[in-house]
Amino acid sequence: MANGLFSFSDVHVEVEGKEVVRGASLTVNPGEIHAIMGPNGSGKSSLSHGLMGHPAYEITSGTVTLNGADLTEMEADERSRTGLFLAFQYPLAIPGVTVANFLRAALQAHRGPDADMSDFRSLVKGEMDALGIKHDFATRYVNDGFSGGEKKRLEILQMAVLGPRMAILDETDSGLDIDALKTVAEGINRFSGQDNGVLLVTHYQRLLNYVQPDFVHVMMDGRLVKSGGKELAVKLEEQGYEWIEAEVAEMAGAN
Ligand SMILES: Nc1ncnc2c1ncn2[C@@H]1O[C@H](COP(=O)(O)OP(=O)(O)O)[C@@H](O)[C@H]1O
Ligand SMILES: [Mg+2]
Repeated sequence: MANGLFSFSDVHVEVEGKEVVRGASLTVNPGEIHAIMGPNGSGKSSLSHGLMGHPAYEITSGTVTLNGADLTEMEADERSRTGLFLAFQYPLAIPGVTVANFLRAALQAHRGPDADMSDFRSLVKGEMDALGIKHDFATRYVNDGFSGGEKKRLEILQMAVLGPRMAILDETDSGLDIDALKTVAEGINRFSGQDNGVLLVTHYQRLLNYVQPDFVHVMMDGRLVKSGGKELAVKLEEQGYEWIEAEVAEMAGAN
């Protein structure tokens, strides 16, 4: 049976009738930061969406657990309340809904309809200050006309406000200039602690210069084919993915 804080086992994900994740397993222990790297189209976002319970990314077999709870059959909102969070690669705009109202609704949904929300304003302001976000950001419509950097900062702000046990961050470094990258990385490092886990999903190594992963896994063609430490990310940056493809082909040939 699965252990650790967050764990998924032999997960297969189907999108539009096509199997794009073909058996992926991973265990994240409390306090750990893991990274999944891989070429475009290898299934990283599909895995992330499947784990979060996105209805278009169906987990057709395998199991997902968080803190002892089986998430596999849960809807996305239930997974969220159980403590799982996904920062999207492509966050959607919600014209007409302000950032403040959006965050309040998300937090209220987490805490329950009758929960005390009197700390909400100070909580959000504190997190905004820490992330270098101006307070008038709260009055803007969610992701409506946001720059790439603003969208990613909002994902991190949302994570900080909700305080999940396990955060999956899908390409949170993409589209960021170096200053935005550093603040986002600071936000992740501030969030990361003994009780929670982080899974960074990224095509590039550069975020990993600012957030140190304990483990790096490589996704290829819907499978996690190799794991290592931080040095694996550096090697991928220098040498690309071809050598892993060759290694995987060799292993397949040997079996
Ligand atoms: N919503 C979707 N509809 C159809 N195909 C999709 C959808 N999302 C992902 N795919 C397909 O799934 C495969 C993996 O894509 P994705 O998970 O986005 O990879 P990555 O995040 O590693 O770049 C690709 O072949 C992609 O075209
Ligand atoms: Mg992706």
